[in-house]
Amino acid sequence: MKAAYENTLKRIDRIPPEGLKQIVRNLLAENSIYESALNSTLDGIIVCDLAHKPLFINRSAEKITRIVSWAQEVVLWEQLDDDNLADFIQEALSSEKNILNHELSISRPGGTRLLSISISALVSEGKIAGNLIHIEDITEKRRREAQLRRAESLAALTTLAAGVAHEIKNPLASIRIQLGIIRRILEKNCAKKTEPIFHNISLVEQEIDRLNSIVVDFLFAVRPMDITLIRNRVEDVIKEVVEIMGNEASVHHINIVCEFEDNLPEVMIDPKHLKQALLNIVKNAIAAMPNGGTLTISAVTRHDELQISISDTGIGIPEELLAKIFEPYFTTKESGTGLGLTITFKIIKEHNGEITVESKPSKGSTFTIHLPIPQPEQKSLPPWEDGLQIEGSEMEE
Ligand SMILES: Nc1ncnc2c1ncn2[C@@H]1O[C@H](COP(=O)(O)OP(=O)(O)OP(=O)(O)O)[C@@H](O)[C@H]1O
Ligand SMILES: [Mg+2]
Repeated sequence: MKAAYENTLKRIDRIPPEGLKQIVRNLLAENSIYESALNSTLDGIIVCDLAHKPLFINRSAEKITRIVSWAQEVVLWEQLDDDNLADFIQEALSSEKNILNHELSISRPGGTRLLSISISALVSEGKIAGNLIHIEDITEKRRREAQLRRAESLAALTTLAAGVAHEIKNPLASIRIQLGIIRRILEKNCAKKTEPIFHNISLVEQEIDRLNSIVVDFLFAVRPMDITLIRNRVEDVIKEVVEIMGNEASVHHINIVCEFEDNLPEVMIDPKHLKQALLNIVKNAIAAMPNGGTLTISAVTRHDELQISISDTGIGIPEELLAKIFEPYFTTKESGTGLGLTITFKIIKEHNGEITVESKPSKGSTFTIHLPIPQPEQKSLPPWEDGLQIEGSEMEE
């Protein structure tokens, strides 16, 4: 393109006015393409002349430096509102050195922003004609990198902790077995079964069991789950849960009500894991009703999902805690591990489902599990099979 314009320049005296107008129009169109390309990039670009006055500042640079309208006759640093940035640009441009990815923070009303600045000579026709300044706002990039680093170190820590927990589990099992043997030997040799030593043994056994359930829950929460989804009925899983928890519920004067919609579809579930997820919610519901109440478990279809709701008439959850209850180790109970709902959440996610909760203090809580209902495969027929006609596609005989 440049060669064509050079040729035009050589014969400019012979070009009629209409031809000249067209050439200028072409030049303007070309210029506007370059300008929009430079203005569309997210990187800030500033071109300065040899006197350090701006020749061009693209949109991103205007946004990053907050230069509202720039003046061509004023040196660049005098047009910058941040002292830190202005001082750096003045020193860098005056020193005439190339600068690569210098990081600098500037203060902005929303907080500090981190910039990466590179400055190089602008070479035109083999001569230095000024400077090209490249500015990038790397605040989000750095934040994401830090987040990734944190996630990586957390993952490494979790693996390490899972390893330690696993190592604790085996000797714990062996301690429990040995204690059982000691109990049996003592029972054989002691005349009275009421000896205080049996009370002490029971206490140690209880503590071992507690420690074991903490370790087991922790491993369950952090290890990848071995979930196999099969088409199955959720009603059967719910009935099993009710059977398991029935005794505990009646001891606490809790009435369990099940409400299943007719003809519920089968959904993709791992019955064993779903049972665990429901048990954790039901156990919490029972704990939330120390003076008795009603536990309602319902299963209904809504659009393309099956919803299982577990409602209690218990103490409820204060609004400020609602966002925390699925977090690992969040508990308000003296002997809780705070892993129950974390495990439930993980299981439901593995089912490609969601779990939501609504609660009102002293009224009760409702946990709803949303499971996708498998849809019949949609076959896309070719348009002529489908009775559709593509415009202009009629075959000529
Ligand atoms: N139905 C509910 N009613 C009131 N509070 C609840 C209910 N379900 C959960 N919570 C609150 O959420 C917290 C976290 O529950 P989660 O099941 O994860 O742990 P936990 O029950 O405390 O301990 P565990 O790991 O032994 O289950 C509970 O400590 C409780 O404060
Ligand atoms: Mg719990």
